[in-house]
Amino acid sequence: MKLNVNGHDHDVDVAPDMPLLWVIRDVLNMTGTKFGCGMAQCGACTVHLNGAPVRSCVTPASAANGAKVTTIEGLSTNGDHVVQKAWAELDVVQCGYCQSGQIMSAVALLASNKKPSDADIDAAMSGNICRCGTYQRVRAAIHRAAELGEVKA
Ligand code: FES
Ligand code: FES
Repeated sequence: MKLNVNGHDHDVDVAPDMPLLWVIRDVLNMTGTKFGCGMAQCGACTVHLNGAPVRSCVTPASAANGAKVTTIEGLSTNGDHVVQKAWAELDVVQCGYCQSGQIMSAVALLASNKKPSDADIDAAMSGNICRCGTYQRVRAAIHRAAELGEVKA
């Protein structure tokens, strides 16, 4: 099947029901996207499918056939996407495991809502679990990213 990942076309020979996360990590060797629960419960595996955040651990590869996939690696080449800049400025990351998923959810939120309220943020981010408890800094960094500039998914 044909996948466009981070702007590059890939022809991958995988079973249609293989989780998209497996394709991204094990076939395409992009390891920024993490495996957490494998059951759409934690958000560690969040990527964008045609601009919308999805849990790649429960998304079959076939759903991405012909679609545009964006992973954390695709946000910027130097880590200078507006959301990444806000994350660095506020020192959001603790162990880091959940953070690529957090950032992908935050980017999707800001692409559709330029000035989210605390409630908007809590609703959009509720599916991204952080075992280190960085929620307050995640929220603050989303507000900061909204100040820094326009976000595109
Ligand atoms: S690994 Fe996909 S939601 Fe947890
Ligand atoms: S920073 Fe450790 S799990 Fe979120």
